[in-house]
Amino acid sequence: RNRQPIIAIDGPAGAGKSTVAHQVAAKLKLVYLDTGAMYRAITWLVLQHGIKVDDECAIAELVSHYCIELTPSEDPLYSLTIMINGNNLNEEIRSVEVTSNVSAVASHKSVRQALVKQQQTWGQKGGLVAEGRDIGTHVFPDAEVKIFLNASIEERARRRQQDFQRQGEPEVSLEQLEKQIAERDWKDSNREVSPLQKANNAIEINTDGLTVSQVTAIIIQKYQHLISEL
Ligand code: CDP
Ligand code: CDP
Repeated sequence: RNRQPIIAIDGPAGAGKSTVAHQVAAKLKLVYLDTGAMYRAITWLVLQHGIKVDDECAIAELVSHYCIELTPSEDPLYSLTIMINGNNLNEEIRSVEVTSNVSAVASHKSVRQALVKQQQTWGQKGGLVAEGRDIGTHVFPDAEVKIFLNASIEERARRRQQDFQRQGEPEVSLEQLEKQIAERDWKDSNREVSPLQKANNAIEINTDGLTVSQVTAIIIQKYQHLISEL
């Protein structure tokens, strides 16, 4: 094999993909790639331009005019930062508005093709922990380790609520969060182009009642086991 291993982590919103992928990458000294941030960045751009989220033609045109780059950074760990025309949009892409529109934008074939191509370019050398919805099924179907993280909708809504509290954001009811998460999951699972799906050979972990360190430890153990068999 002429590349380093790849760990693919997929699953629905709030399953713990970002947090866990980050820790796994730090522990194994692999590069962390948050593909959701890429779909969020395009969504931010679409909203900035006042383009309707279902106008695929206008969105395809917009995507072709912007330089969406993955830039390696080493602070605090090896990760790829998403830049648009040289700007880091890390804060903007987490807004409520982006979150509620991202699934619609991410359903367009032209958007997915452009972003998947970039993800695969970075994957050529391997050494990645990539996290998203279609990593094990579509982006890196030959990843050495495929994980599907899951948790009940109640647990995922509770985690989001705690995240908001920690960030000092206005309180959103659990009921409302459950509704928003369920809606996004439904759109992500039912779109035509590479929907959210567990890959056949993925290891599913239900993270209800598990801590971040416990989930991280399970993945590292699976990784070491699978790598020793190659
Ligand atoms: O962290 P959170 O679960 O809120 O979302 P995210 O991972 O940042 O992803 C945001 C959205 O991007 C998802 O709801 C999907 O619509 C889309 N996405 C996708 O379609 N494919 C990926 N590989 C990653 C994200
Ligand atoms: O990326 P995704 O939407 O799947 O989840 P996230 O953005 O990583 O958010 C998960 C939240 O739940 C974070 O605040 C984590 O600290 C927390 N959490 C977790 O990720 N995994 C657990 N097993 C327990 C809690």
